[in-house]
Amino acid sequence: QKLIPPSFGSIARGIKNNKYKKIILMTGAGISVAAGIPDFRSPKTGLYSKLEKYDLPYPEAIFSMEYFKKNPKPFFKLAKELIPKDLKPTPVHHFCKLLEKKKVLHRVYTQNIDTLERKANILPEKLVEAHGSFAYATCLKCRYRYTQKEIQPIIMKGKVPKCKKCKKGVVKPNITFFGENLPSGFSLAHRDFPKADLLIVIGTSLQVMPFGSLIHHVNEDCHRLLINKEEVGVYRKSIFSRGHKGFRFNRSDNTRDAKKLGDCQEIIKQFVKLIGWEKEFNELLDE
Ligand code: OAD
Repeated sequence: QKLIPPSFGSIARGIKNNKYKKIILMTGAGISVAAGIPDFRSPKTGLYSKLEKYDLPYPEAIFSMEYFKKNPKPFFKLAKELIPKDLKPTPVHHFCKLLEKKKVLHRVYTQNIDTLERKANILPEKLVEAHGSFAYATCLKCRYRYTQKEIQPIIMKGKVPKCKKCKKGVVKPNITFFGENLPSGFSLAHRDFPKADLLIVIGTSLQVMPFGSLIHHVNEDCHRLLINKEEVGVYRKSIFSRGHKGFRFNRSDNTRDAKKLGDCQEIIKQFVKLIGWEKEFNELLDE
């Protein structure tokens, strides 16, 4: 007998009927666009399409350790704009919180460094900031740790923060650059993903590894739902090159993948309505 793949609607009904008890969310820059932070790779609006003024050899150099060691100025110029100020969590962030309140959230894995999950009051033990955050910063020479409060004023003045302790090193916010290891919390993924019964991927291009490859770490019977402006994670040799097949939306052997393409904030509102959680959701939005 052929298994019928799930759909957006059937997954909403599943949540409503308590079928899913361990939900993992994987999120990216797309969920914070509504809060006023551009994503990275959208053509025209993404950060990487607007870096001319930084005079970089290639856009991703702005987050490259190798480049930063030679010239930290472009990063700090950008950081001034990126540092979270009075930003508010979006409906998608509140949806994550609602899953936690309903005791079905296993964990949120976010690539975002904007700390909006914290602002939505997601419990620290339910959150993995897989690419770090601005909450702390470290001297690259002596590893002395600073809080955001200590270095933010220096960055906001347009200066490169230098270590007060060793007087030599540049103090770099603890966001993960290309060429650095991911924060230790990321290692939880190896235990977490095989336990999930539903994986929801929202607002990410899944282009940055190892994060993007986590979609393969759930079991074969775990349903996977993609909510994004565009289709992502489909098999492309260059990205999922280790025999992985990516999402199977368009394949005849799809038994577990569903997608809903469009604006994630609108889609989450529809989703909440289908689940029947509107009242509590609206309360979170109003808080
Ligand atoms: P990307 O910019 O690569 O991808 C964002 C995805 O969200 C794209 O597929 C967009 O189409 C989609 N999107 C944008 N707005 C949306 C909306 N309103 N509704 C639904 N989808 C929307 O961002 P990430 O995947 O998060 O690394 O990027 C991954 C990493 O690359 C980042 O963590 C960052 C960057 O280099 C670091 O900062 C270390």
